[in-house]
Amino acid sequence: MTARFELSGTILVTGGMGFIGSNFVRHLLVTYPGVRVVNLDQLTYAGNPTNLSDLDGNSRHLFVKADICDDPRVNRVMTEHAVTAVVHFAAESHVDRSILAADDFIRTNVLGTRVLLEAARRAGIARFLHISTDEVYGSLESTGVFTEDSPIRPNSPYAASKAGADVLARAYHVTYGLPVLITRTCNNYGPYQFPEKFIPLMIVNAFRSEPLPIYGDGLYSREWLHVEDHCRALAQVLGAGQPGAVYNIGSTEERRNLDVARAILALTGRPESLLRHVQDRLGHDRRYALDSAKIRRDLGWAPAISFDEGLRQAVEWYRTHEAWWQAILSGEYQTYYARQYGGSQGGGGA
Ligand code: NAD
Ligand code: DAU
Repeated sequence: MTARFELSGTILVTGGMGFIGSNFVRHLLVTYPGVRVVNLDQLTYAGNPTNLSDLDGNSRHLFVKADICDDPRVNRVMTEHAVTAVVHFAAESHVDRSILAADDFIRTNVLGTRVLLEAARRAGIARFLHISTDEVYGSLESTGVFTEDSPIRPNSPYAASKAGADVLARAYHVTYGLPVLITRTCNNYGPYQFPEKFIPLMIVNAFRSEPLPIYGDGLYSREWLHVEDHCRALAQVLGAGQPGAVYNIGSTEERRNLDVARAILALTGRPESLLRHVQDRLGHDRRYALDSAKIRRDLGWAPAISFDEGLRQAVEWYRTHEAWWQAILSGEYQTYYARQYGGSQGGGGA
């Protein structure tokens, strides 16, 4: 099978109203004039149409509010719009929520992916790009990196559900020859990230002079990739990746949580006394780090935004988009926050 796919025609993006999905939809429409996007999203608490309000009236963007588990609906969308490729982001994505309750994670991440793979197989689509995560590999100690051949050893319910989807996607390639591509990416950050995730949570709490909750000793470490670098990588994998292959997408920018929180306090001009060590996450993975030599070598991708610059830009984005995040910090968010951290914003749990 040819390793090239021309980015044109109708691409079905699932979860395109979420953080990475909305950045990717914008990237596709700006960069590839021959592409039309059907954006299928259920608008859970994490889906937000204002993420793409700049595309209102754009005839190349069609939003469909639907659940990826809705088998007949997904099949209809795929055939009615003559979809040529699927880029699958839709998921329950937050580890802490999966520890509180895993049902939605299994349903959307595993069963929903099965519905999409089956519909794609029936429709005979040319590419299925499945967005997976480095968390499927499990946790590292202070040294080493995960390669695409590292064993799958997920630790959280979220990671286990993503691993289920990942191996199901692989099985559809092996069994039916579906042209599946799988990417496993490190932690993203940047515009439109929901403020339950670490970086936007720290930024928003710092702006409001609320405590910054640091799990455990804060020496857990993550590899951080700017979402725009991630979107470029995904478009390159979609266009030139080898069907059946897995691509790690990493930045090599590893940081400990406490160092990231301190950098955010410095960028927002807030005191370190806002740091609060709170109860640790159950089963907390100590460290993730990816070997992404394959995508750099085979597809010529490399990240362009350093973490220090990207973090500065992210703080600026949240500073200039206060209305966006203030609208989120109500209702469901308050309930979740109180349940996760105890009390109100940034409270106890220590
Ligand atoms: P997000 O939570 O911001 O967005 C998820 C989107 O999926 C939302 O718009 C939501 O409405 C939609 N959705 C959820 N359930 C749905 C359903 N049943 N049917 C239709 N739509 C549904 O997530 P994100 O951070 O943008 O992550 C996107 C993808 O990338 C996920 O698959 C995640 O596992 C993966 N990923 C994320 C990161 C990261 O750092 N954020 C890193 C690696 C991989
Ligand atoms: O690695 C990729 C994964 O990155 C994605 O697959 C997930 O969808 C995404 O949510 C993210 O998972 P993490 O668990 O790594 O990200 P999170 O932002 O939840 O946490 C990052 C680190 O910060 C982690 O070590 C836990 C810690 N943390 C997080 C929160 C929310 C805190 O110390 N305090 C907090 O309040």
